[in-house]
Amino acid sequence: HLSVQDRIEEKRRAALVGGGQKRIDAQHKRGKLTARERIDLLMDPESFVEYDMFVEHRCADFGMEADHNKYPGDSVVTGQGRINGRLAYVFSQDFTVFGGSLSGAHAQKICKIMDQAMMVGAPVIGLNDSGGARIQEGVESLAGYADIFLRNVMASGVVPQISLIMGPCAGGAVYSPALTDFTFMVKDTSYLFITGPDVVKSVTNEDVTQEELGGARTHTAVSGVAHRAFENDVDALLNLRNFFNFLPLSNKDPAPVTECHDPSDRLVPGLDTLVPFESTKAYDMLDIIHGIVDERDFFEIMPNYAKNIVVGFARMNGRTVGIVGNQPKVASGCLDINSSVKGARFVRFCDAFNIPIITFVDVPGFLPGTAQEYGGIIRHGAKLLFAFAEATVPKITVITRKAYGGAYDVMSSKHLRGDVNYAWPSAEVAVMGAKGAVQIIFRGKENQAEAEAEYVETFANPFPAAVRGFVDDIIQPSTTRKRICRDLEVLASKKQTNPWKKHANIPL
Ligand code: COA
Repeated sequence: HLSVQDRIEEKRRAALVGGGQKRIDAQHKRGKLTARERIDLLMDPESFVEYDMFVEHRCADFGMEADHNKYPGDSVVTGQGRINGRLAYVFSQDFTVFGGSLSGAHAQKICKIMDQAMMVGAPVIGLNDSGGARIQEGVESLAGYADIFLRNVMASGVVPQISLIMGPCAGGAVYSPALTDFTFMVKDTSYLFITGPDVVKSVTNEDVTQEELGGARTHTAVSGVAHRAFENDVDALLNLRNFFNFLPLSNKDPAPVTECHDPSDRLVPGLDTLVPFESTKAYDMLDIIHGIVDERDFFEIMPNYAKNIVVGFARMNGRTVGIVGNQPKVASGCLDINSSVKGARFVRFCDAFNIPIITFVDVPGFLPGTAQEYGGIIRHGAKLLFAFAEATVPKITVITRKAYGGAYDVMSSKHLRGDVNYAWPSAEVAVMGAKGAVQIIFRGKENQAEAEAEYVETFANPFPAAVRGFVDDIIQPSTTRKRICRDLEVLASKKQTNPWKKHANIPL
């Protein structure tokens, strides 16, 4: 008989090799790292503290009770550690143990770190690589999923939750990532779907590969389920570390401020000539964003989905900010269903986690057409309006060119409690563009060209908004960074609360 000390050592050794060398080799052969290698890359060296290494599954059916079917720690590695010195909780599913499938014990381990993360106030990061519910455990496993879902919902808006999909994630398993704030994927090796290609074939008779159905391209460009995709495990984990630096640890924590080597009063001369003189000509909103933020460092969220709106994180004088901008390069920067939903979810994340929002406006309105109306643009556009209106974090808005119609109101206008609203000299705030407007108010009349010129003279400039105080100032574009950095300093102590309510009823 082994002494207790020897048994402890033996179990620890067993836990470290998961499902054994053969399965580790198979994992590597697919270009995937193991659960533990991933944690090592994600966390600062020597910082990871593991919990529940001795937990085993409790299934006694289908021969599962046999010793050779028990793996210390079961199919997930859990614990806490540091990312650039800041606390984070992590679970990393181990595909080498029963395909990373979720047993009751596996779920219990995840719930334990989620509960602690919420009490301590630190983000939860999930590294997902799992064949789904542990088939041998039946309802025990389904109960485990629900226990996690409930915690995802309770933690929403309390601590940031991030999912990185690094292998399969199918069936009920998809709903935990879906409930978290950000879902990232690894190209070629990860997929997310409700049912796999075989079930799809039998129900809808569609032929589709795993990659087409739920790969990284599908979810970052078509469905909008995932927020970013990365080349491989290493690239994804390094990007996750970088992303983590932007986030506060909890809703009680202010957005982080890091040391900044980019002068806050830096002028950006290029911006004075960036907006084309012809109001129908496109330019790249990313040029404005990159020019203004610290060190051109912008972490874009959903860069390949609803590209007519740009959202992401950056810093201004070291302080994390959320940036929202219409993108004139794509569909003239109009708002449609997908861009409204993309923007709304981002704004709500920022508001929940004390991240100031900077909005750049160049929007010709909402996209017309039956596809949009039948798809419910009214309902979905309302989400973005709702999100900006309810947000109480510092809100700074810059109208770079067009701010037409209802979209003007929506885009963090003064009327929705924008704290500081600027217009560039190129700003035009009006109900609609000159051509359409004249066709309506001078229908059938002669001298359309004259009327159009009068309309442009009246509205195609920042004054109508400025004389009413709907923008606080008309600023030279090159001074925008300087102005915003100063405003953020002032607004850092902003306090605003909404009326008491159980929760709002955002149109879904
Ligand atoms: N429950 C229990 N064991 C599972 C499992 C599950 N849900 N999914 C995978 N495994 C086991 C396999 O039996 C295999 O065990 P072994 O190493 O002892 O042979 C191991 O995990 C690896 O699975 P395998 O099928 O060989 O890997 P793969 O890469 O070829 O396929 C999947 C991966 C996820 C596509 C495939 O395993 C699968 O379809 N699993 C079931 C998915 C599912 O429908 N889950 C329920 C939905 S909630």
